[in-house]
Amino acid sequence: MGKQVDKYDALWTPPEPQDNPDSPLSKAFKQPLMLGLFLPFQTGGWSQSTLPRGTDWTYAYNSRVTKQAEAFGFDVVFGLSQWLPKGGFGGEMSYRENFLDPFVTTVALAAETSRILLLGTIHILYGPWHPMHLARFLAAADHISQGRFGANIVTGYAENEPRMFGAARKDHDSRYEQSAEFIRICNALWSGNDNLTYEGEFYSLEEAYVSPRPLYGRPVLASASGSPAGFRYAGQFSDIVFVSSPAGEKLSDALPKLPDHAAAVRNEAAARGRNVRVIINPTIIVRPTRQEAEAYYQAIMDHADLGSIRNFYARHAAGDSVSWLEHSAKGRAVGGHLHIVGSPEEVAGQLAQLHAAGIDGIQITFYDYEPELAYFSESVIPLLEQQGLRLPVEI
Ligand SMILES: Cc1cc2nc3c(=O)[nH]c(=O)nc-3n(C[C@H](O)[C@H](O)[C@H](O)COP(=O)(O)O)c2cc1C
Repeated sequence: MGKQVDKYDALWTPPEPQDNPDSPLSKAFKQPLMLGLFLPFQTGGWSQSTLPRGTDWTYAYNSRVTKQAEAFGFDVVFGLSQWLPKGGFGGEMSYRENFLDPFVTTVALAAETSRILLLGTIHILYGPWHPMHLARFLAAADHISQGRFGANIVTGYAENEPRMFGAARKDHDSRYEQSAEFIRICNALWSGNDNLTYEGEFYSLEEAYVSPRPLYGRPVLASASGSPAGFRYAGQFSDIVFVSSPAGEKLSDALPKLPDHAAAVRNEAAARGRNVRVIINPTIIVRPTRQEAEAYYQAIMDHADLGSIRNFYARHAAGDSVSWLEHSAKGRAVGGHLHIVGSPEEVAGQLAQLHAAGIDGIQITFYDYEPELAYFSESVIPLLEQQGLRLPVEI
C-alpha cells in the first residue's frame, strides 16, 4: 500500500539537478552569464515587422539554429507556447499563425544535439493534464536528452486560451496554487519512493508510480513570472525563472529596477535553501558600428506590421500579465522584453550592465536568426569572455 504523501516529507522530494555537479544544468550554471536562444518556431518569431529576413518557423530551420547555437557554446534553447485562433495575430504577416508545439519540438531536438539544454513551455492547467502525464512524459524526455530537457511551467495569462479547452481562466494566484500542487505531485512521483496515494485539493492519485527515475533526480524546471505569487512558486520549484523587464524595452529604464526584481525571486528561493537563476529576454541587434545597428533597428520599426501589433495588444489587454503591457507598440516590431542595439563592444557593455543588475542569463531573440546568431557569437562572445562573463565551453 502506498502512503498518503506529506508535502513536507523530504523522502518525497527528489534531489535537485543543480546539486549534482555532473548534471547538464550544473555545467550551464557555472557560466556567470548564461546564454540562451529563444527558438523561432512560430511564424514571425518575436518580431512583428515585414522587413525581409530568413527567420522561419519550420522544424528544419529551428534544427539548424539549435545546432548553430550549440556549436557557438550557447547553454540553452527555449520555446514558448501560445494557443491562437485561425490566422494567429493576423496582420500582413499572419503573425504566429503556424506554431510548432514546443514540448514535442524540443524533445525532437534532443536527438540532434549533445550538450545544450532544451526548454519547452507547457501550460499544465489546460485540458485534462494530470501530474501522472507530466511526470511520465518528462521522465522520458529526461532520458532521451540525458538530463538536458527542462519544462517551462506556465499557468496561462491569456483570457481566450482556457476557453479553447472548454474552461474559464481561473484567478491569477489560484493558478499558481494549483500548479504548485501539480508539481509537488510530480516531484513525489520522480522521487520513486513508493507507490503514491494522494488526495489533494485539485488532484488525487491511488497507488500511482512512474518509472524510470529522471537521471539527476528530476528534470530541469523553469517558470516565467513577474508577480509575487509567481516568484513564490519559482522559489519553491524552479531552477530557472524567466523575468520580463519591469520597465519596458529600454535598457536605461529597466536597469534601475532590475536589482530589486531579481532579488525578490532569488530571496524566495533562498528562504527555502534553494537557488534559482534569473534570465531575461532581450532582442539583440549588433552590427560592426552603432550607426549600422541603429539604421537596421529603424528599418525593422519602419516595416512594423501594425495590424498584428494591434491584435497582440488586444490579447494582452485581456490577459492578466502586467509586465507585457508596458512595451511600446512600435517596440513589438523588434520584439523581446529589452532592446540591446549597438556595436559588438556596446552590446557586450550593455550585457555586463544587465549582469551587474542581478541578471544571471539572457534568452536572446534575433530578427534574422541565422546570420545574426553567427555575428553575435563571433563578435560579442569573445568580448564577454574577456570580461569574465563567459567561460570557455568544451564543444
Ligand atoms: C521570457 C518569458 C517567456 C514566457 N513564455 C510564456 C509562454 O511560452 N507561454 C505563456 O503562456 N506565457 C509565457 N510567459 C508569461 C508568463 O507565463 C507569465 O504569465 C508572465 O510573465 C506574467 O507573470 P505572472 O503570471 O507571474 O504575473 C513568458 C514570460 C516570460 C518573461
